[in-house]
Amino acid sequence: MKILFVCLGNICRSPMAEFVMKKMVKEAGLEARFEIASAATSDEELGNPVYPPAKRKLAENGIGCAGKTARQMTRADYDYYDAIIAMDHNNLRGIKAIIGEDVDGKVSLLMDHTGNPHDVADPWFTGNFDATWEDVTLGCAALLKEYAEF
Ligand code: 4NP
Repeated sequence: MKILFVCLGNICRSPMAEFVMKKMVKEAGLEARFEIASAATSDEELGNPVYPPAKRKLAENGIGCAGKTARQMTRADYDYYDAIIAMDHNNLRGIKAIIGEDVDGKVSLLMDHTGNPHDVADPWFTGNFDATWEDVTLGCAALLKEYAEF
């Protein structure tokens, strides 16, 4: 199961989801069955590391993200990954601009996999990395449950 998490800048939400999901998959002993990455819709932050407050939030929870730098999603990513997981509706528009129509039905919103669908608020604008953490961990737990049998 190959999963690509996508947000606007690839320095806050999608890298948090990438490294949270990697940890959950590892703890479930399912590492061999998953490939997990993240990317941006925009080119705003290309090459930049995970934003320090997001990195701190991960570190507080024993999760590293060394070496991750922002990259932009491509049309080839759409073909390669099995699931493209967006953080908010704005990201869905950005993804559509890159890939056109989601003909294979691979694109979904993270929180649509939970019992409480909503946009993951962008902490770049809200400053609230705790709320992002709550959403990302709930969303990733739901994905793991859903995809564990894939
Ligand atoms: P992210 O947050 O999409 O969660 O990585 C953002 C980071 C940077 C920008 C926007 C959102 N930016 O406009 O540079």
